[in-house]
Amino acid sequence: MKFNPSSNIQDLAQFGEFGDVNPSVTDSATYTFMQAKTMLETFKGEAEGCFLYSRHWNPSNKYLADAMAAMEGTPAAWVTASGMAAITSAIMQICNSGDHIISSITTYGGTFAFLHNYVKKFNIEVSFVDINDTNAVKVAIRPNTRMIYTETMTNPLLQISDIPTLAEIAHDHGLKLVVDNTFTPMMVAPARLGADVVVYSLTKFVNGKNDCVAGAICGDLDFINSLIDVNHGTAMLLGPVLDPYRSTSILKNLHTLHIRMQQHSRNAAYLSEKLQKLGLRVIYPGLKNHNGYEMLKKIYNPDFGFGGMLTIDVGTAEKASEVMELMENKGVGYLAVSLGYFKTLFSNSGKSTSSEVPEEIQKEMGLSEGLIRFSVGLDHDIERTYQTMEKCFKETHII
Ligand SMILES: Cc1ncc(COP(=O)(O)O)c(C=O)c1O
Repeated sequence: MKFNPSSNIQDLAQFGEFGDVNPSVTDSATYTFMQAKTMLETFKGEAEGCFLYSRHWNPSNKYLADAMAAMEGTPAAWVTASGMAAITSAIMQICNSGDHIISSITTYGGTFAFLHNYVKKFNIEVSFVDINDTNAVKVAIRPNTRMIYTETMTNPLLQISDIPTLAEIAHDHGLKLVVDNTFTPMMVAPARLGADVVVYSLTKFVNGKNDCVAGAICGDLDFINSLIDVNHGTAMLLGPVLDPYRSTSILKNLHTLHIRMQQHSRNAAYLSEKLQKLGLRVIYPGLKNHNGYEMLKKIYNPDFGFGGMLTIDVGTAEKASEVMELMENKGVGYLAVSLGYFKTLFSNSGKSTSSEVPEEIQKEMGLSEGLIRFSVGLDHDIERTYQTMEKCFKETHII
């Protein structure tokens, strides 16, 4: 039977203590025990259904984590205070000092900075590769390699990772494959394709409201338990826990994600075709000339389309600023970083979300200074949006 993330979420039966259709918010940092023995067992992880302390587990966080696990088809999940907390906790849980990581050279700028600058202090080395070049991935493997890291659809170049092949390479060499699925929830289920751990910034499409920052780590039960182990767990000991009020609000938004992804994809596909016809250089994985088009078709769930992200290249950073200011002014959307919002957001990647990537590496990965990344919103009348965009491009002499 076809894997259906939205049915998995629909089938969740999570009630509050009074039969509330939305599970209650557990507004407690600690939990009492009627018997001291049960507390001891809970510390040892032996008491089913008992909660100890909210940095470890909170019932509201557990509901959201269970929903994320259902969506990804993983046995377990844990939610974090940000996407970066999910990424860094997963990486630090898997890697020890002296280990080596192979990462896609195009990733979110914060992830790049963490891997390029930060892990050095733990004596962890990272090789950055073109993730579409599976031979380069194989060649980069060393005796101390522990992990291959990539994004399903990379930020901001929208390359598509061949997750089944990367999983095969990883597992042939005893490595873990960790995949950031932030751009492609519902559309792609990396764990079903062989990824060992799937990380998310819930800040983006999953929550969709731009009212908070959050993240999730999805994986098998042993891995999730190891993250929250009271003696050795990265998440338990560094403490990037999500506030239960936020879990509760994100969980409600998760129930509309399938509809939102369809509309984001529909609108982005519409704009990408029209903008390409105007003669603009458009990158959108749903266009047949995108080099990841066939790959995405192999691994995606067609019910949710090719996603809500597209880029155009207007040549220079100055031109990008000019047209973005005009688009903001004319109501196309907001000049802002981030993505997955109901309004269209756009930013000049090289000067914003990828500004952590040094200019020479931006060039090496093919990130042009005039690249504008769009997270296309949920506009009902996308033709109207397109017309406004066309006027903006004409007025700034881009076309
Ligand atoms: C692909 C991707 N992963 C992770 C993150 C980090 O998420 P957060 O801002 O929630 O920490 C971002 C943020 O832009 C992102 O685009």
